Amino acid sequence: MPRSTDADTAKTTPTAAAGRNSLSVVDNRTGKSYDIPIDSGTIKAIELREIQTGPDDFGLMTYDPAFTNTAHCKSRITMIDGDKGILNYRGYPIEQLAEHSTYLETAYLIVNGELPTRRQHEDWVHDITHHTFLHENMKRLIEAFRYDAHPMGILVSTFAYRASVGLPFIYPDNDLSYTGNFLAMLFKMAESKYRPNPVLERALDVLFILHADHEQNCSTLAMRAVGSSHPDPYSAVAAAVAALYGPLHGGANEMVLRMLKEIGSVRNVPEYIKRVKQGQVRLMGFGHRVYKNYDPRARIIKQIADQVFEVTGRNPLLDIALELERIALQDDYFVSRKLYPNVDFYTGLIYQSMGFPVTMFPVLFAIPRTSGWIAQWEEMLLDAEQKIARPRQVYMGYDKRSYKVMDERS
Ligand code: SDX
Repeated sequence: MPRSTDADTAKTTPTAAAGRNSLSVVDNRTGKSYDIPIDSGTIKAIELREIQTGPDDFGLMTYDPAFTNTAHCKSRITMIDGDKGILNYRGYPIEQLAEHSTYLETAYLIVNGELPTRRQHEDWVHDITHHTFLHENMKRLIEAFRYDAHPMGILVSTFAYRASVGLPFIYPDNDLSYTGNFLAMLFKMAESKYRPNPVLERALDVLFILHADHEQNCSTLAMRAVGSSHPDPYSAVAAAVAALYGPLHGGANEMVLRMLKEIGSVRNVPEYIKRVKQGQVRLMGFGHRVYKNYDPRARIIKQIADQVFEVTGRNPLLDIALELERIALQDDYFVSRKLYPNVDFYTGLIYQSMGFPVTMFPVLFAIPRTSGWIAQWEEMLLDAEQKIARPRQVYMGYDKRSYKVMDERS
């Protein structure tokens, strides 16, 4: 509750409050001054409701379209420093996890808060490995979709690659690692035992680590908001998948590949950059709401790309991507807006070279992100300060007016 003082003492309150961990504001409409506590670099928006001009005024709110400067939760899972290009999961730098960890170990860390002991890790891997079989009726559900339905549209309800290419379903091979088994279930053909290429298997595992969580992004917000009305977690994940599908979010990795194919050649890059600067198109895979520096994940992904291309052969679209980045990092349009490559800029080139169809790229983002979504959902449910998400609005519509019968309307 902010402490308010009347006009006479308002002029002295701010100096008297100097040094206190609070914000002193004067409402010039009434001359009243308010002392609002500051906690963790924030003020509680609900405190502003006390700032009123009279008994009929329900007080001030904050107005923050797209939550550009609003914390909607307290979290201990992921920390991003957008200016310094830092990303930590439970305090561990993404670079160290990418170098030393596996996706399953990182998923354990994100969900449980600590790196697992050897025994915890063995139990975790065993449980996940032995829960990979789908109920047979899921196959019939997937087969019910059109053969060319977008996998993200199907993922919102189930999973889709083999059906989309007319291949029979492959059952899990529990001898393989998490990502090795994933590759087998996608790419196994007539061979008796699928043996994943170890370089590609490790590359995909690191990519899964890099995509596992990213604090309060759009799809995590969807997970938390939908989860706050207490449906089952599968329904909340479906909402998160739907949010991730968007080309401004996880769907960007697919759009980057389509953009590179549209540009077609390095000599067409200047013309495309011109269209971007004219506002006709966006440079997909560039820019970020939080990172105003190089996305630390993109830096690691570029290194992974080199390793993958050693195996698969260099993706010819890479030259176009590198030229786009070279120009953008020196052009004032991008520099002044602090637009850098983000996590989606290079991943598509890797996925394409690994044999994934373009429409599967956002699915490859969603799969690892489920560990982050689940961790964020559970943290929301366990947070005593959280309840059903229900933001307010600024009403700009008509005042009260009376209904007119049809013939009286103009
Ligand atoms: C992800 O939030 C997360 O953490 C997300 C994510 C995660 O791990 O969960 O990191 C994953 O979603 C990465 C972002 C993938 N999306 C794209 O690559 C799509 C292209 N990027 C943009 O559309 C945009 O940069 C966003 C959506 C990522 C961020 O948008 P913002 O923060 O709302 O920025 P904005 O739209 O207000 O742009 C600010 C300015 C504008 O110019 P002006 O109006 O000032 O003249 O920058 C321009 C924009 O036009 N701009 C771009 C641009 N991104 C921003 N101009 C050209 N190309 C771009 N990509």
